[in-house]
Amino acid sequence: MSVHSNVKKVTTHTLHEMKNAGQKISMLTAYDFSMARIVDEAGIDVILVGDSASNVMAGHETTLPITLDQMIYHASSVVRAVQRSLVVVDMPFGSYQGNSKEALSSAIKIMKESGGHAVKLEGGQEIIESIGRILTAGIPVMGHLGLTPQSIYKFGTYVVRAKEDEEAQRLIEDAKALEAVGCFAIVLEKIPAQLAAQVAKMVSIPIIGIGAGNGVDGQVLVVHDMLGINNEFNPRFLRKYNNLHEQMMNSFHAYIKDVQSGDFPNESEQY
Ligand code: KIV
Repeated sequence: MSVHSNVKKVTTHTLHEMKNAGQKISMLTAYDFSMARIVDEAGIDVILVGDSASNVMAGHETTLPITLDQMIYHASSVVRAVQRSLVVVDMPFGSYQGNSKEALSSAIKIMKESGGHAVKLEGGQEIIESIGRILTAGIPVMGHLGLTPQSIYKFGTYVVRAKEDEEAQRLIEDAKALEAVGCFAIVLEKIPAQLAAQVAKMVSIPIIGIGAGNGVDGQVLVVHDMLGINNEFNPRFLRKYNNLHEQMMNSFHAYIKDVQSGDFPNESEQY
C-alpha cells in the first residue's frame, strides 16, 4: 500500500468549503515532475500548470507560443507527481478562443492525455460560450481576469489592469458571468486590491489573486519567481521566499572548483 493512499485529495468542492470557512487557498505553478512532487508534499492546495511554462521553461518572451501538446507534456509530468493537490491546466493561446467546439475538443484532449483535474481559460463574457461547452463535458473550469497575458499584444504592457471605472465595471460583470456559467474559481491578476476584494465578496466561488491584494480567497505565484530563481523579475507583488539564483550559482561555482582541482570525486565517491 502506498504511503500516500490515505491522503485526502483537494477537489473543487474542497476549495468552496475553504472559502465558506474563511480558509485561504494556496496555489503555485509547477511544470515538471520533480518540482510538482515537492510542491504537493509541502501541502499546496492547487498546482497550476501555467502557460507561463512558455516563459519559464522555454524562454519565450510571451505565453503565446506554447502549444496544446507542450502543455499536455508539462501537465502529465506534474500529474504523475501529485498525491493531494488539485491540478489545473492552462488552455494555451489559440486552443479555445472563437470556436466553442474547438475549445471543448482542446479541453477533452488535455483531460484525457494529461490526467489533469481542471482547465483554466483567460477571458470573460467573450469566451462564455466556450466555457459553457467545456462544462457540459463535466470538465471543471477556472476563469482568469484582469491582466491576461495571452492578450499582451492588445494591452501593450504588463501594467496593472482595471484602474479606471469602466474597465473595473467590465471586470465585475465578467466575474459575475463566469460564476453564473459555472466556473469553480477565478484568478484575478494584477488589479487594484480594493476591486479584487469587492469581487471576492460579490461572488460565491473562490477568488485567487496574483498582484490583487489580500482581500481575496487565496494566492497564486509562479514557483520559479517565489523561489528567486529568476533574479531579473522583481514586480511589487512578488514576495521572494528564497534566493535560489544565488544559492545555485554558489553550488555550481563550488562544483567547478572541485572538478578543476581534482577534489571531486574523492575516494568515498568512487567504486
Ligand atoms: O500561467 C500562469 O502562471 C498563470 C498565473 C500567473 C496565474 O496564469
